[in-house]
Amino acid sequence: MEVEIIILAFISLFYKANGALYELNVADEEIFQSCPDPEPGTLDIHGLLDLSEFSTSMDIDGLLVSGNQTLVWDIQREDRVQLAIKLLYWDRGTWTSTVFSAYFRDFCKIMYDKNQILYEPWTEHIVNDVQDKCVNVPGTKLILKTYVLNLSTSIAAPLREGRYKASMMLRAFDSTGTERPTRICCEVIGDIFKIRN
Ligand SMILES: *[C@@H]1O[C@H](CO)[C@@H](O)[C@H](O)[C@H]1NC(C)=O
Ligand SMILES: *[C@@H]1O[C@H](CO)[C@@H](O)[C@H](O)[C@H]1NC(C)=O
Repeated sequence: MEVEIIILAFISLFYKANGALYELNVADEEIFQSCPDPEPGTLDIHGLLDLSEFSTSMDIDGLLVSGNQTLVWDIQREDRVQLAIKLLYWDRGTWTSTVFSAYFRDFCKIMYDKNQILYEPWTEHIVNDVQDKCVNVPGTKLILKTYVLNLSTSIAAPLREGRYKASMMLRAFDSTGTERPTRICCEVIGDIFKIRN
């Protein structure tokens, strides 16, 4: 999931306007990292997606994204999937909360929504007809057309430059509301800096 831009997509969700231009540098080639101190049953990005047919590389205009992602999370089609995202700022040696957070009680309703956070960086580029499967049907292949992800965004509100971390948690619940035994947690760490006022 080429969602390193999630940090920026996320911030621009709150402040979409023509302000200063910011750019994101992702800290790790791997992009998605495991969450520290996970509770039992917590999987990382590889518990959600098989990325063996997927690749990203830096391009002059941003991040070049290509290949396929195959769903592997062992949940059921009718499950409700919940997504929570938090943005943290690295402040004098500690991760501290910011005002940026988002919670989607029913992720499958917004996964392909044009007005939502994941559309431009990710789901807009899925070319095969898998929209009805959300992330719930293991074995489903999401075929992406090759695209360049722009890692710059303009933000109206003043933003502190520095190191940020977006922490994402997906949980699945069956029809009785019981949580499935596994959940997905991953983090993206990146530096945000201003390139133009
Ligand atoms: C992506 O999947 C399609 C259809 O199965 C396949 O033709 C293509 O080779 C795959 N791409 C990669 C990079 O493996
Ligand atoms: C990326 O987005 C920024 C802000 O919207 C824009 O100024 C810039 O031209 C874009 N870069 C490319 C390569 O499209």
